[in-house]
Amino acid sequence: MTVSAASPPIKSRVLIAGATGFIGQFVAEASLDSDRPTYVLVRPGVATCPSKAEVLKSLHDKGAIILQGLISDRKYMEKILKVHEIDVVISAVGGGNVLDQLALVEAIKAVGTIKRFLPSEFGHDVVRADPVEPGLQMYKEKREIRRLVEEYGIPYTYICCNSIASWPYYDNKHPAHALPPLEHFKIYGDGTVKAYFVAGTDIGKFTMKTVDDVRTINKSVHFRPSNNFYNMNELASLWEKKIGRTLPRVTVTEHDLLAIAAENIIPESVVASFTHDIFIKGCQFNFSINGLDDVEVGTLYPDEPFRTLDECFNDFALKLKDSNKDVGSNGNATPNHVIESLAISEPRVCLCDEKISLFAGI
Ligand SMILES: NC(=O)c1ccc[n+]([C@@H]2O[C@H](COP(=O)([O-])OP(=O)(O)OC[C@H]3O[C@@H](n4cnc5c(N)ncnc54)[C@H](OP(=O)(O)O)[C@@H]3O)[C@@H](O)[C@H]2O)c1
Repeated sequence: MTVSAASPPIKSRVLIAGATGFIGQFVAEASLDSDRPTYVLVRPGVATCPSKAEVLKSLHDKGAIILQGLISDRKYMEKILKVHEIDVVISAVGGGNVLDQLALVEAIKAVGTIKRFLPSEFGHDVVRADPVEPGLQMYKEKREIRRLVEEYGIPYTYICCNSIASWPYYDNKHPAHALPPLEHFKIYGDGTVKAYFVAGTDIGKFTMKTVDDVRTINKSVHFRPSNNFYNMNELASLWEKKIGRTLPRVTVTEHDLLAIAAENIIPESVVASFTHDIFIKGCQFNFSINGLDDVEVGTLYPDEPFRTLDECFNDFALKLKDSNKDVGSNGNATPNHVIESLAISEPRVCLCDEKISLFAGI
């Protein structure tokens, strides 16, 4: 595939919804690192959650402008897109809020000046991947958002970044927060099906590279770093090297994963259905990306390195060393002046520190 040179750097004004979330945080950090004017939309009440308050304070200290509101409030979204002359909208709302983006898409259409929209994807190509339920439901919703964006002619980029670089627990919402196993490995199937692992910081970095790049308009951008293409057996060996000992391996069969998925418990069953799709069916590589609508991120930015999985596992090994120290929230509250409030809404119950607060996965 022939690709022309990237467009010159234009510092677009970026609005990010979901920046206090797992993926959104990486994207917001990268937007600030790229010196783009960065607006961060947070839901009312978020500043009362200590861990999210800490994230917000850090983003604010780096220059983010914090706005308060909901993407599901179409009129409000129209207002902030206009008032702040936003060029690029990135949504990283969680799997349980995918359809909240319907109102956001309507607002983007109504405003008519948004140069790029990145809906909340950040995983597999939801049109090609076909997990079992209940994971499939999230993909159906992501497909619905895609259909509307395309129908309205909104310029878009879909980020298909594959797996976050970490041990892929089938029952954990955000595995990158958890260390790889220390007692035994659960290996899916025969452990030979490969997947692409990408550091969160690279998801953020490459996402921000795409937003002003003409080569990524109306494309799915696939992350397939060849040096981070591992199967479960290789992943286990890598971790064993870091901890200097071998661990027993327990097989989780295809049947086991399908049985967990069928139980329909959130988030375990959602994650089990994606795990089945990745490590049994090989959904990350069982299609070619030569289509007109696809581009691989390494082709676009060949000189830009990915962090290796080896480096990411070094981070986990360091965390393990420090594991006796308290690495949790420092309890800082977000100062009121941090939030530029354009909407007054009801306070809400904070679920931010609950492991299973929302849907999981990719
Ligand atoms: N590739 C991977 O390995 C991987 C891993 C995880 C997720 N993902 C994908 O990445 C995307 C983000 O998921 P996540 O797990 O990062 O989400 P998350 O941690 O649950 O965070 C969701 C964020 O969206 C915000 N939000 C939700 N509804 C909103 C609304 N109506 N208006 C404004 N903000 C709203 C939340 O705000 P509050 O702070 O107010 O709650 C939070 O900041 C999803 O598409 C998911 O499927 C991929």
